[in-house]
Amino acid sequence: MNVWVFAYGSLIWRPDFKFLERRQARVRGWQRRFWQGSHDHRGVPKQPGRVVTLVPESSAHCDGMAYLLESEVAHRTFEVLDHREKNGYERVAVCVEFSSTEQVDGIMYIAPTDNHAFLGPAPLDDMVAQIRTCEGPSGKNVDYLFELADALRALDADDSHVFELEAAVRTGLEK
Ligand code: SIN
Repeated sequence: MNVWVFAYGSLIWRPDFKFLERRQARVRGWQRRFWQGSHDHRGVPKQPGRVVTLVPESSAHCDGMAYLLESEVAHRTFEVLDHREKNGYERVAVCVEFSSTEQVDGIMYIAPTDNHAFLGPAPLDDMVAQIRTCEGPSGKNVDYLFELADALRALDADDSHVFELEAAVRTGLEK
């Protein structure tokens, strides 16, 4: 069977895998937060960066992109994604919504609060300082934030947490 994968972070703008189709989508009951440590992409073990995960919040929703994987390549694609998301993320089943009348079963990667790299909430200034200074094999932490914010604008998706963080980091960089 073909499989839908829901993306809410770097997989929106850099999927790096083949797909049959992609569609803007929403998951309900989750909110996007820069609460996950990144030791392997946007930081290093001694200075982890901050990247997004989804945390449960019953009244929230999160907009992103859904990709349809062809059944024959899905297994191999998940192996590649499991490696890319290895720093604390795990696959979970989720209901992916394209509209109020169109929903499908899908898979997404989340980094649960009990994973070894989970950082959790922090004061805005601390998150800004961390994101401004961290860098890892996949690039600068600020670029992850800016590319996510750009990708969400392209989807016309609202996310006050991401946009407030982006504004604060940009202000800091202009000083
Ligand atoms: C995702 O994009 O769906 C997972 C989190 C990330 O890689 O940024």
